[in-house]
Amino acid sequence: MSLQEQVISEFQERYDGAPAYVVRAPGRVNLIGEHTDYNDGFVMPMAIDRATWIALSPRNDGQVKLYSMDFNETVSFSLGHFENNDSGWLEYVKGMAWVLKAAGYRLNGWNGVIAGDVPVAAGLSSSAAVELATARAFAAISDVPWQPAVIARLAQRAENEWVGVSCGIMDQMISAAGVEGTALLIDCRSLETTNAPLPPDTAVVVLDTATRRGLVDSAYNERRSQCEEAARFFGVAALRDVSLADFEARAGELDDLTRRRARHVITENDRTLAAAEAMKAGDAVTLGKLMNASHTSLRDDFEVSSDALNSMVNCAQGHAGCFGARMTGAGFGGCAVALVAVDQVDDFVAHVEQCYQQATDLQPNIYVCQPTNGAELLRG
Ligand code: GLA
Repeated sequence: MSLQEQVISEFQERYDGAPAYVVRAPGRVNLIGEHTDYNDGFVMPMAIDRATWIALSPRNDGQVKLYSMDFNETVSFSLGHFENNDSGWLEYVKGMAWVLKAAGYRLNGWNGVIAGDVPVAAGLSSSAAVELATARAFAAISDVPWQPAVIARLAQRAENEWVGVSCGIMDQMISAAGVEGTALLIDCRSLETTNAPLPPDTAVVVLDTATRRGLVDSAYNERRSQCEEAARFFGVAALRDVSLADFEARAGELDDLTRRRARHVITENDRTLAAAEAMKAGDAVTLGKLMNASHTSLRDDFEVSSDALNSMVNCAQGHAGCFGARMTGAGFGGCAVALVAVDQVDDFVAHVEQCYQQATDLQPNIYVCQPTNGAELLRG
């Protein structure tokens, strides 16, 4: 049974009757453009075929009652008044309700069943999937117009201010605006999106190191301030506004650490735009090289990789069917992503599994991913 069928049948058992709506919002993998979103730069994520699903029907008493199949628990809260109790996944739901209310929308309550298959804490944005599925649910039954970029900004605010994680806009934006069959080039300043289909006969393979990120929040915040400091030095709003030529002209005046942080962001923006061109031309070889260069820059200049990620990327890059591979997401653990010739995927997966296990004694999780739509209303 698909997850969609499972949430529907669970709903029927619990609430006596079919759900009025079923919504879905995906996780994501980023092909290139890492740690650029909070510098107003460019990213190239795709929404993946792993998602959060909610089956729901409206209630008329302003309550939200939700059963989670993954955690086997029922929770409820009143839209009239609710607080942050640090209660895990539910805070993403409440945070979304809070931010929509704060934006002036009148929300209706609902009964729901929620389930997901985005691996948690792997760097595939399971939290954005819950936020956007919640937003899509509220939009289905309340007076909230579905405008992906507007909703993505609100979801980012929920994560920043309610959950307390300072993230950029990428994860929420791709979970809101993804398009089936294509990655998206996103300008994180204007939120303009451009379809960027994968080169012909290639597959995107997500390689989970089975290591989880420790201290990632503090390291992430530290990187953000270093980038802001570099932007101040160049007298611009964000590093997005510094060209490679401007950077090189004045790089000698920066201390070594700030110089390397800025160099990563500035070159990564260029690589992401070059990747969009390569994808337009269907050029897997160039795209793969750009991904490899991105990893080197994240490892050496931005210093957000880890031994496990480096081993995984080395294993992937060592296979003849691999065009390129890099760490993906915030870093320090979680997943790498590889672009692989479609007819060599099986052999690639077997090779990486064995190579990574030998190098680290860890068992990786490997997913071949398809680009899917962003948050959507599937029934109702
Ligand atoms: C995390 C954040 C994103 C982005 C990436 C790094 O996934 O949530 O906003 O900054 O790290 O590219």
